[in-house]
Amino acid sequence: MPKPKTTLPGTTDRRITALVTLLAENATIVISGARIAREIGVSRSTVWRWVERLRELGVRAKGHPRTGYFLEKVPDLLTPDMLKSRLKGSLFGKHIHHFLKTDSTNRVAMQLGYAGEPEGAVVIAEEQTAGRGRAGRTWHSERGTGIYVTLLLRPKISPVQAPLLTMMAGLSARATIQAQTGMSVDLKWPNDLMLAGKKLGGILTEMHAEPTRVRFVIVGIGFNVNQEKFPAELTAIATSLRAQSGRTHSRMELLVRLLREFENDYNRFLREGATSVTERFEAVSSYARGKQVNVSNGAEHYSGITAGLSPEGLLRVKREAGEIVTVIAGDVKEAS
Ligand code: BTN
Repeated sequence: MPKPKTTLPGTTDRRITALVTLLAENATIVISGARIAREIGVSRSTVWRWVERLRELGVRAKGHPRTGYFLEKVPDLLTPDMLKSRLKGSLFGKHIHHFLKTDSTNRVAMQLGYAGEPEGAVVIAEEQTAGRGRAGRTWHSERGTGIYVTLLLRPKISPVQAPLLTMMAGLSARATIQAQTGMSVDLKWPNDLMLAGKKLGGILTEMHAEPTRVRFVIVGIGFNVNQEKFPAELTAIATSLRAQSGRTHSRMELLVRLLREFENDYNRFLREGATSVTERFEAVSSYARGKQVNVSNGAEHYSGITAGLSPEGLLRVKREAGEIVTVIAGDVKEAS
């Protein structure tokens, strides 16, 4: 197996994280540019450049090179140091790769998977420039407002079971949002998180497998947290936790909880198998049973009523003629 690669091009410079930590630990106190430069080991002009960069990410750092800097508010950045200290003992607390900006955390995690990175590696971005969605779509990933994370797993399962991890991640995200915000997310088979009839988030699972065994799986989870508005083409179909609740939510708290929930669900899935996912998914998803839907899978379009999940987690639909079909892939929409 190739040697694990721990530093990837583009990951956040540890010294930027140190700068944030230094400012956060001394919040509201002015610290001179010279002291910051000395403590984190860069020039004063680099400190200025990085402060500007952090401001673009929504960090409320006041001041300038002559006066020094201070934080008006502790920022909600998903820095690896902070996460590691909150995730002690967790599978996901050891190998955290953070990007201020990357194309896609799934793309990075895939690369890590091929390079032999161990199970439990986490890739996080504050912004994605080419976030990937299901069926070749893009995932709008505005800077500093959503959660964009991908987890690398090496489960001893067969490839046909991998899609269960998508549904499982949906359950973990749902439980997280319920616990942190009190809001109740619906799950639309196989990978959508829905809130107030709009899309809040989604999961994109990709894998590298042999015919009978999985080499690795990556589970990419994205959901909208503090977005105030969306591009025109998404306004009617997308929402965020903030848009629904009228207040901002801590991405750090949501992410820590998500990784804990995911770890519990994952261990349970490995222990108990598919039913630990399918039964719970059926219990909480309004789409799993009795929903009038339109299904399209490229060539074919049909309508029917959902009739539960198969043991592998595929959706069953009772077509108008009475025949029950299993949806393997395709778009499922509530019939209007
Ligand atoms: C979908 O609903 O179509 C799936 C969206 C998945 C988006 C997440 S954001 C983190 C990870 N990185 C990506 O490029 N995509 C997933």
